[in-house]
Amino acid sequence: MRLVPARQINGRLRLPGDKSISHRAALIAALASGSSEISNFSTARDCASTVGCLQDLGVSIEHNPSKLLFAGGEKLIQPNKPLDCGNSGSTLRILAGVLAGHDLIAELIGDESLSSRPMQRIIEPLKLMGARVQATDGKAPLKIRGSGKLVPITYKLPVASAQVKSAILFAGLNAAGRTTVIEPSPSRDHTERLFNGFGVPVTTTADLSVALDGPARFTGGAITIPGDISSAAYFIAAAMLLPQSELTIEAVGLNPTRATFLSVLTSWGAGISTSDIQTERNEPYGTINVRGGITGVAGANERTLSKSMIPSLIDELPLLAVIGSQIEGGIRIRDAGELRLKESDRLAATAVNLRAMGAEVEEFDDGLSVLGPTQLRGALIDSHGDHRIAMAFAVAALIADGETEIGGAECVAISFPEFFGLLESVVVR
Ligand code: S3P
Repeated sequence: MRLVPARQINGRLRLPGDKSISHRAALIAALASGSSEISNFSTARDCASTVGCLQDLGVSIEHNPSKLLFAGGEKLIQPNKPLDCGNSGSTLRILAGVLAGHDLIAELIGDESLSSRPMQRIIEPLKLMGARVQATDGKAPLKIRGSGKLVPITYKLPVASAQVKSAILFAGLNAAGRTTVIEPSPSRDHTERLFNGFGVPVTTTADLSVALDGPARFTGGAITIPGDISSAAYFIAAAMLLPQSELTIEAVGLNPTRATFLSVLTSWGAGISTSDIQTERNEPYGTINVRGGITGVAGANERTLSKSMIPSLIDELPLLAVIGSQIEGGIRIRDAGELRLKESDRLAATAVNLRAMGAEVEEFDDGLSVLGPTQLRGALIDSHGDHRIAMAFAVAALIADGETEIGGAECVAISFPEFFGLLESVVVR
């Protein structure tokens, strides 16, 4: 994909449904006792992987152009082929938790990237609950023999991960008693909100423990998925970095465990505001307005992203590194070693690509330091087949001098197939 610089971003957008919420809504609808209707379901290839796996488990899902319809009241059946999770960590990890609580045998497989990512983090708690799980070196493929009668556990997560927390909570639906997950820092809480929204009470305490009492079953219903804030992030960043911009994005998810990106940019001097806030099944959403330009200079504290902030910024960190290259004083990211375990090693991919565009970057085991402000120059970018790297550097391309070529840019379809088309629709050259 070839990209040339832009002058500004102008327009009004509505985005496809949030990827994380869509995965969970589909799993809940598949397990619910009544029928469900999901509107604005994510168009991400990752979410299609979740739907495909559910169909292979015998779930009847009708796909009309704007809605997914689930009959509900069904029992998962033993699949007659491996369940293909594609590139999707959320599909594989959370579905493993679902399967752990059902009397069947299933194999979960993924593409090369997913097959190299750590799965011991779900294998350990699911085994403690009584599921049998086989893997080689803690990686996919994963063979699971589930049980309809799991043992409830209290489990302290070694790393903050919403996927692992969710896997345990889904398994907890079929455990007799209280299942509790304790997090080291708050990760996205869509599972908790949607469980409560579909009739399974989940309690959360200030000491970051999340609990549910099993056995429990969802009551089906309708949901309209809010727009994906992680997809919105690229447009917000581009509008912020191009001074004359005016951008409005409607009906975007504003869950606090996902929206830290907005407060970080505001602390860096961005003109971002939110309005029309409503909720859908406990998930807040609203309109985001961005006025281009950066006012003021952020202090060193605001420019360091670390510790408990990291989980709620995790998917936006490559983009924040790009934005950091434009901020007076630059940016430091620490305690983010998890980024090396995503769809690609995102710390390495971000550092190499930023350097290719002329930025000065220091790489640590657990983070990056990027000097700023730097005039980026167009370059040859390697997406490493990672959607978030491709989109972060598409934003960099808009503010660079000269032309940028992004290799393997079609990977944006993993989370956001419409990305380049929508970007073109708001870019002014
Ligand atoms: C996700 C959780 C995060 C995030 C991923 C989606 C989810 O992963 O990076 O894109 O939907 O729960 P971890 O749980 O591994 O941090």
